[in-house]
Amino acid sequence: MHKQLISASALSLVMAFAAGNALAAPDWSKVPAKKMHVFYPGASPVEWIMNGVEHSGAKGLRKGEACTGCHEEEVPTFGQKMSSGEKIEPKPIKGKAPGIPVNVQAAHDGTNLYLRFSWKQPNGGGPKMDADNQVKVAFMLANDGIMAKDAKGKEVDMSKAGGCWATCHEDSRTMPNAKDDKKTKYVADAGKFYDLLQWTSKDNKGHDGMVSDKRVMQGGKALVEAKGENKGGEWSVTFTRKLTGGDGDIALAAGKLYNFGFAIHDDHTNGRFHHVSLGYTLGIDAKGDITAAKQ
Ligand code: HEC
Repeated sequence: MHKQLISASALSLVMAFAAGNALAAPDWSKVPAKKMHVFYPGASPVEWIMNGVEHSGAKGLRKGEACTGCHEEEVPTFGQKMSSGEKIEPKPIKGKAPGIPVNVQAAHDGTNLYLRFSWKQPNGGGPKMDADNQVKVAFMLANDGIMAKDAKGKEVDMSKAGGCWATCHEDSRTMPNAKDDKKTKYVADAGKFYDLLQWTSKDNKGHDGMVSDKRVMQGGKALVEAKGENKGGEWSVTFTRKLTGGDGDIALAAGKLYNFGFAIHDDHTNGRFHHVSLGYTLGIDAKGDITAAKQ
């Protein structure tokens, strides 16, 4: 009798564990996918975006217009001028894909956010800047209110209107005029930060960092796991991230929208030679450009 009791409770424990695991991995076939595009941005640091001379969009940004407001429709072909070297790319890489269409899926279970990125491997063959990693995938999250100055000194909320561009500067490493090859991306607005999560293909691992006055690739408390695979030329990378976190993590709550942008370092690239998205919103049980609904 006693023995039976024990095995019954052991069984229920096993079942509870199995149920917990089942919850942890959403059934991705049931989660709607949003087709989004990352494009090759060339050397378009925030200083170029905001100078108002070469980029007439600075005027719209000052009025609160977002990059997507002007560029969303052309985003599938947006990277062509930069990848070919026709515009703002002094070092074009031969054969570089102008853009990559990516299926983005999001879900949550009240404890974790799950984000899945999947795409078809484009042609490669460029220089192996990062020999170890064929692919890296990163996304950033921000609250509103990370400001950047335009050429006239006017402040613009770049986290809201400009996606990741508030972290992208002309003096960061790999930029054409960078003087310091250790200088990473950064936020000029003191005390503000973007949460940054990255997956690297070499070790099939996630890294939980942040971007404030510099970029750090560790220290975050929110990432549970990041895993990816390439099946016959189709990549899929899944991040599991606690909704809450610690310092340097954006805490996510149901009913709210967060600024969101993502990037793929394809074909062994490094630094600025990635494909990036414009800035979007991620909604947790709220309608954003991408919505993570409760599973
Ligand atoms: C008010 C509209 C507007 C907004 C907002 C805007 N842009 Fe632009 N952007 C333009 C126009 C128009 C061009 C074409 C060149 C020109 O006339 O400035 C352009 C050109 C570019 C280019 C060069 C590629 C090309 O086809 O010329 C990049 C890269 C770019 N924008 C990125 C951005 C990013 C990133 C943001 C947000 C931080 C942004 N733009 C916001 C209007 C805008």
